[in-house]
This record gives sequence, C-alpha cells and structure tokens, in this order.
Amino acid sequence: MRTKMFWVLGAAVVMVAVVSAACTGAVGPQGAAGTQGVAGAKGDTGPQGSAGLQGPVGLTGATGAQGPAGERGPAGPQGLQGPAVAPGPTLANVQKAITDTLSTYNKSLPLWAIQPGTATVMRQFTESFNLMWFAAQGGNWDFAGFELYRVGEQAKIIRVTRPARTALLDNWATPNVAALSEAIKAKDKAAFEQAYDNAVAGCNFCHAGSEGGGFPMEAIKITRPTAPIYSNINFNYP
Ligand code: HEC
Repeated sequence: MRTKMFWVLGAAVVMVAVVSAACTGAVGPQGAAGTQGVAGAKGDTGPQGSAGLQGPVGLTGATGAQGPAGERGPAGPQGLQGPAVAPGPTLANVQKAITDTLSTYNKSLPLWAIQPGTATVMRQFTESFNLMWFAAQGGNWDFAGFELYRVGEQAKIIRVTRPARTALLDNWATPNVAALSEAIKAKDKAAFEQAYDNAVAGCNFCHAGSEGGGFPMEAIKITRPTAPIYSNINFNYP
C-alpha cells in the first residue's frame, strides 16, 4: 500500500513536470528581415528606400537595405534663344566717328563754329605780306621766307573751314607762292618785288569776284605797304 502510494505520488510529480514543461513554451523564431526598400524615383539621386517591415513575431526584423540610387533624370529642355540685339559699336567704329567729326567742318558744332574763317586768314595774309615786304627791303631773307611760310600755314585754315573757297585760293597760291619762294631763296630783290606785285594783283583779282557778308570784296584793294605794321621790329639782317 505504501509502495502504491509512493508510485501514485511519483506519477503525479512527473505529470506536473510534463504539464509545466508544456505550458512554458519555446521562444518564437526571429522575425524575418524587412524587404528591401523601394528604389528611389528617377531623378538626380533616388530617395532612400523605406525601412523593411518589422518581423511578424519575435524580435524586431532587420532594417531593410537602402534602395538603389535612382537614375539621373533626363537633361532639361534647352533655354529659348534670347531676342536679337544689334551688335554694339567697335572701337574702330568709335575712332572713325571721332575722326569724321573732327575732319569735316560742321558749323552746328560749337568747336567748329569758333574756328577762323576767310576774313581771319585774310588779316593774317595782310600782316604777313606787310612784314615780308619790309624784311625783303632789309635784306632779311630768312624773315621774308618765314612770312611766306606763314602764308602757306594760314591758307590751310581756309582749306578746312571754308572748303568752297579752296579752289580759288589755290589758283592764287600755287603760282604766286612759288614765284615768291624762288626770289627769296635767290635773295633777288628785283625778282621778289615783281613776284610780290603779281601776288598782290592776285589778291585783288580774287576780291573783284568775291563777296563777304553780303559786301563786294572789290572794295578791299591791297597795295605795296608804306609802313611796317609793327614799329618795334628791326627788319635788317642780322
Ligand atoms: C581766294 C580769293 C581771295 C584771295 C586770293 C585773297 N582774298 Fe582777301 N578776301 C577774300 C574774301 C572772300 C574775303 C571776305 C572774307 C569773309 O567774308 O569772311 C576777303 C577779305 C579780305 C580782307 C578783309 C578782312 C577783314 O577782316 O577786314 C583783307 C584785308 C584781305 N582779304 C586781304 C587779302 C590779301 C592781302 C590777299 C593776298 C595776299 C588776299 N586777300 C587774297 C578772298 C580772297
């Protein structure tokens, strides 16, 4: 009887152990790794893939791998061509414009309007012809030559500021300046006086056919001078 009781007790202990083992249960398997993230949208750089899903049971699943970078998007459309713009002036154009403006008399421009005209040059001619005469009388041929050179320089003004008078002026200057120049170089007083008288006749010839400011220039008669225009010059040489 005692033995039987002991057996029953032992069997009960085993049963408790079995039942308790069955109730405890094993730890569940680790959750599966998350699925790989979705590839980034097509663009310069794909967005990061989304995280993997959590494992259904047990431990948290591993984070999903980053999605592959998206492909580089196609190049944007080419910009429209800007409106046509006329080319700007070149340095050569600007230099030409300046040269043209400075080379062509234009009385509407103040700088041109104040340049000497015919009358100013005529006064200078009169002065140079006066000095030239007394220099030649004093045998001062360098002085006479210098005054003839001055006439040529003064004539340049008319060529620029009064081009319409240039042809008539050259008709006078070409033969007369040449004759005076030869006589002066030769230091030939008689030849000089002859050339001088011819040149003065030429002054008057041109005046006879000219007008100035509405007045007939025939009224202006040039002669040999009787006195130096300046009293403070010694015309003798040296
Ligand atoms: C190409 C023709 C021509 C020749 C050559 C010429 N003259 Fe005249 N002269 C004129 C004209 C035109 C005027 C009037 C100018 C004006 O209206 O601005 C003038 C005016 C003058 C005047 C008046 C200037 C004033 O301001 O009162 C004098 C003086 C003069 N001439 C002297 C001379 C002398 C001297 C010579 C020769 C050495 C000479 N001229 C040769 C055309 C000429």
